[in-house]
Amino acid sequence: SEHQAAKVPISSQKLEIASGVTLLSCALDTASQTTLLGEIRKISSKAPLYTPTMPRTGKPWTVRMTNCGPLGWVSDRSGYRYQPDHPETGDPWPAIPQMLLDLWDEATGYPAPPECCLVNFYADKARMGLHRDEDEQALDAPVLSISLGDTATFRLGGLERKGKTQSFKLHSGDVLLIGGDNRLAYHGIDRVFPNTSTLLKDGGRINLTLRR
Ligand code: SIN
Ligand code: FE2
Repeated sequence: SEHQAAKVPISSQKLEIASGVTLLSCALDTASQTTLLGEIRKISSKAPLYTPTMPRTGKPWTVRMTNCGPLGWVSDRSGYRYQPDHPETGDPWPAIPQMLLDLWDEATGYPAPPECCLVNFYADKARMGLHRDEDEQALDAPVLSISLGDTATFRLGGLERKGKTQSFKLHSGDVLLIGGDNRLAYHGIDRVFPNTSTLLKDGGRINLTLRR
């Protein structure tokens, strides 16, 4: 059936990075990554990537963003929030592709679907500073993050901003779950390594973050 065809085979090694933080390395095979990239292209054709701005300063982010799902995560001068429509087009966000809903079920076992899939696009020099994902209501649901394209260095801290951090690489097809005791852990992307993947024709990295 169409539903089964959309199922994502998770064929990965599970690595516990910290309590509640699991890296499913190579969770998505090349075929699934290509299919998923096609879905993201459809999403960005309806809900174009845009450059968000920082709270207060209005400084542009180096990462471009869009969303799918009932709610999208946005950032602008007035702060961070979830909203049902694209900040530039005013249209509702496109639906979350079935293969991502299936992946969420399979990887998290959480009894309700994700409500937001944030799409982050990192060109060569883009990075994301240390932050916590704390704007969600369901803090018992993990954050499920998927990497596509060029390899990046992910930095994981603890619950305090000034705490110790560790860093590791995320490759195309890797899935990272951030939940449990560390659901509110600080994390960020230090850098992206150009030309480390051929998935995206023009290079760069895409990160999908599913949250509730
Ligand atoms: C994020 O924390 O919002 C993005 C993480 C990533 O790009 O892997
Ligand atoms: Fe985050």
